[in-house]
This record gives sequence, C-alpha cells and structure tokens, in this order.
Amino acid sequence: MNRTIIATAALIYANGPAHLGHMVEYIQTDIWARFQRLRGNKCWYICGSDAHGTPIMINAQKQNLMPEQLIQQTSIEQQRDFADFLINFDSFYSTHSTENQSLVNEIYQRLLTKGDISTRTIKQAFDPEKQLFLPDRYIKGECPKCGAKDQYGDGCEVCGATYSTLDLKNPISVLSGATPIEKESVHYFFELAHYTEMLTEWIQSGSLQPQIANKLQEWLQSGLQAWDISRDAPYFGFLIPGTTDKYFYVWLDAPIGYLASLQHYCETHSQGDSQKLWQAEDTEIYHFIGKDIVYFHSLFWPAMLHGADLRKPTSIYAHGFLTVNGQKMSKSRGTFIKARTYLDHLDPEYLRYYFASKLSSAVEDIDLNFTDFMQRVNADLVGKVVNIASRCAGFIHKHFAGKLSLECSAPELLAQFTKAEALIAESYETREYARAVRQIMELADIANQYIDAQKPWVLIKEPGQETQVQNVCSMGLNLFKILTVYLKPILPQMANQIEEFLNIPELSWADLAKPLLAHTINPFKPLKMRITPEQISQLQEATQ
Ligand code: MSP
Ligand code: ZN
Repeated sequence: MNRTIIATAALIYANGPAHLGHMVEYIQTDIWARFQRLRGNKCWYICGSDAHGTPIMINAQKQNLMPEQLIQQTSIEQQRDFADFLINFDSFYSTHSTENQSLVNEIYQRLLTKGDISTRTIKQAFDPEKQLFLPDRYIKGECPKCGAKDQYGDGCEVCGATYSTLDLKNPISVLSGATPIEKESVHYFFELAHYTEMLTEWIQSGSLQPQIANKLQEWLQSGLQAWDISRDAPYFGFLIPGTTDKYFYVWLDAPIGYLASLQHYCETHSQGDSQKLWQAEDTEIYHFIGKDIVYFHSLFWPAMLHGADLRKPTSIYAHGFLTVNGQKMSKSRGTFIKARTYLDHLDPEYLRYYFASKLSSAVEDIDLNFTDFMQRVNADLVGKVVNIASRCAGFIHKHFAGKLSLECSAPELLAQFTKAEALIAESYETREYARAVRQIMELADIANQYIDAQKPWVLIKEPGQETQVQNVCSMGLNLFKILTVYLKPILPQMANQIEEFLNIPELSWADLAKPLLAHTINPFKPLKMRITPEQISQLQEATQ
C-alpha cells in the first residue's frame, strides 16, 4: 500500500547564509523523502523561511533595508544553496505570508475560545534610547554569581549560571550601549499546562525517539509554565488581533508556517484542501529538527495543534549538531563553513554521502573531519562504486559494441544483491543511514571481488573466452545498477548520470529485480573524481 507522507525540515531563519550545520538537516530530510518517493510513496518535502523576530528587524535596520527586503534577498540565496545541494523541496514558502497570517489568526482564535490565552503584566528590560524591549541576547553585563564581565542576559559562559536579565550587574544594551531600564507591559500567554494530560499520553504512545520522550518527561515533571506568546512593538511579525501594538512572538507563527507552506503547495499544485490532507488519518507527518528546538516542537506545537482541533505530527525526528574537525562551528575558529563556500570548491554529493555515512536515528552530534571526509569519499564512492562501472564498461564497448549479454552468468549474486533490499530499506526508513551505507558498501565489495576473481582482463587474451568476458562485465554492470538504486536517495545526480550511461529510464526501487539483458548501453564517462588534498586546503583557506 502506498503511503501519504508529509516531511518537514525546520524553517530556516531568513537572517544569514545557510551553513553546513543547516545542511545536515536539509540533507537528512531530503534523503528520507527521496527514499520514500523511490519506493512509490507520496512524500511531500515541506520547508520555508522563518522570517519574523527581533534579530531580523534589527539586521534590516543595520543594512538600511526594510525587513521584507532582507528576508527576500536572504531567502533567494538560501534557496540557491539548497538547490545546489540537490535538496528537492516540494514547497519552500515563508512565515511572512498571507496564508500564514490567516492560519495564525484562526488558530489563535480557537485557543482563545478554549480559554487557553491569558494576559498579565510583566517587567522587562527596555532600551530607553532605542525605545525597544530587549531580548536576553541583546543585553550584556556582569554575571551576578561570579562577576565575569561581558556576559549575555540569559546565562554566564564562564560559571554556567542561568539567571534573569534583570539580575545582571551593570547591564548595557548591545544595540545602543545605554543602560536598560525596567519597564512593565501587558503580555499574552498560552496556558500550556492545560495540555499536560495530552502530552503525557503522547510520551507514552511510543512514537517519539527515546531521547525526546525522556526530555519531555522531565519537562512535564517540573511542571509546565504558561508560554509568553506576545512581543511589544516595534517588532517584525503579525499583530495580535484586537491589539494595535502587540505582536505574536516569532515562535508562535513559525511552526504554523509548516501548514502555510503546505497550503501554498496544495493551492499552486491543485492538490486539494491542505487541512484535509493534514487531518487525514492515513497521512503521516514527520518534523525533522535539530536538538536545539525540541522544546518548541514537542511541547508548544502539539499543544497548539491540539487546542486548535488539529492533529499532532506522527513523530518528531531530532538530530544532533554538526561539529567541524571536532570543534563547534565558530567564525573565529574558522570552522563556520557557509554552504556556498563548500559549493565553490567541492561536489555537493560528496557531502551528502559523508553525512549519510555518519547519520543515525540518535540525537547525536556528527563531526565533519576533513581527512576522514576525503578518505571516505575517495575509498567508497570512487574506489568501490564507480570502479565497478569503469572496470566493466570498457570491455563491453570495445568488444561487444556496447551490448550486454543475453543472460545472467551469476544469478545467485544477483539474488543476493536484490535480497539485501529489505534490510537497506529498513535502514533508510528508520533513518539509520550510516547502516544503509555500510550495507551498500559491503555489496560493492562483493561486486569488486567477483570481477577480481573472474579477471576479464586476462580472459580477453585467451581464445574462445569472449562470451565469458561479456557475461562477467554484464554481470558487473547489473550489480552496479542495483547499487545505483540503493544509493539514489543519497546521490540523485550521479544516479541520473548512470541512468544515461546505462541507457535506461529513471530508476526506482521496483527496478531492483529487473536485470538488463541484451541491452545496449552508452559510452562510459567518468562519474566522480577523487578529492585532492589541494581542494580541501583551498576550502579551509576560504573559510578562515
Ligand atoms: N527558525 C527556527 C526553526 C523554526 S521551525 C518552525 C530555527 N532556524 S535555524 O535557521 O536556526 O535552524 C534551522 C535548523 O537547522 C534547525 O533545526 C537547527 O537545529 C538546524 N541547525 C542549525 N545549526 C546546526 C548545526 N550546527 N548542526 C546541525 N543542525 C543545525 O531554528
Ligand atoms: Zn558567572
């Protein structure tokens, strides 16, 4: 039975360039969505820009732009990067859209009716010069605990203390240098605790990753606080209905952006009513996210959906963070690599392959180590996979006019390769990509061993062995074709080149069991080159 699946990746802030950390997620989701489609399932990959909030407003001011201009420019660049990394979104939309605004209003209205919204007056740090309430990250001062200077408003990087901004000693506004004052204002709150029972059930449903279920359990045990969903003007976001100077906090409208992006897709692709699709019992919905935003996706978002009489996602798939050469990505250490900088130097499929070879279903950080990266790609992709085709294709062209043999000379090998299908599919399905890659590379080893043992380069010199050479090389290419199907979610471009070389239509999972017999192929062109140490050092120089 074909499944109907909505897979989302977190909406990227339209506030700076995409970097390789982001790419972990967009590639992880892309591989999964491509795998689903390859298997004949319907799978829509939904994403977009997260366009609201104070940082975007302030960055736009700094660049003398309207926020709308900044988010549009940024988004165009980000989308170019995604396309060049072969990320195949079905919909890339924006939270700053009319669709999102009406969905936000509708959901807010429903929560209001349910009695989930309350207001109260709170005290906050205010920049008297800029006339702006200051988010924690826009205030610096001395740690109230250890006295360390130059610490942010939410916590001390020296002693690890967390505290309220109002407790910082000698605070200053990062924006103006002025001393913030305390100011009162009315805020809107979402009564998260109303959903304690629903969330408790969700934890027990077994549909969440164990790490996430445990985190949720902890949060529930310490009691759910009401969530502050409003921000005072000036703010770049959606006005709260019935007010003139209160805006929805960016994290309220951001996840609703998934619905808006889906709606936009359905409307522009004649796919019917998106809310019906979302609500349908047999629609599966998965949110791929980073570990830093689990709180928003596992507490606020399901509670908002539930309160608005909408269904919850089937599951949330969180991944860890990317480190570079063992270090946190940071501009000062030269480990902050923009997507574009990478693309200027290296093939996107190398990184897709490398990430796949490291990713699992666990919420664990993964490291991009350049030495390992180069060795991995060269040994596996070039040395093992592409090698099979380059060893076989020459003989087929030189001696048999590009024609493969009439029958399979090693049917048991073919059977072994097609039978691996179930395990490899399970690895992809459960996001155990590292395991899938290992399984596929074991098969590539077996294919190479077969060719090594048959020695077509020796046979061709022996009289009467011509047919055997054709059989062996045809067999090798048929095994290569199966490997191509298995690798296609990770290496879609190379798979397309191979389809052209093998002279066949687009491969899908259903083609695994159909060997090419008495079929004429096209001349072989090199598929992938080795990564050179020079390319790596050039990339690293460009990153400094
Ligand atoms: N705008 C929010 C998401 C809203 S979803 C309704 C956001 N944006 S982000 O641009 O900061 O991050 C987008 C995604 O990239 C997040 O899932 C985040 O966890 C992920 N990553 C950002 N840096 C990362 C690494 N260094 N490594 C792996 N993933 C990282 O959060
Ligand atoms: Zn401290």
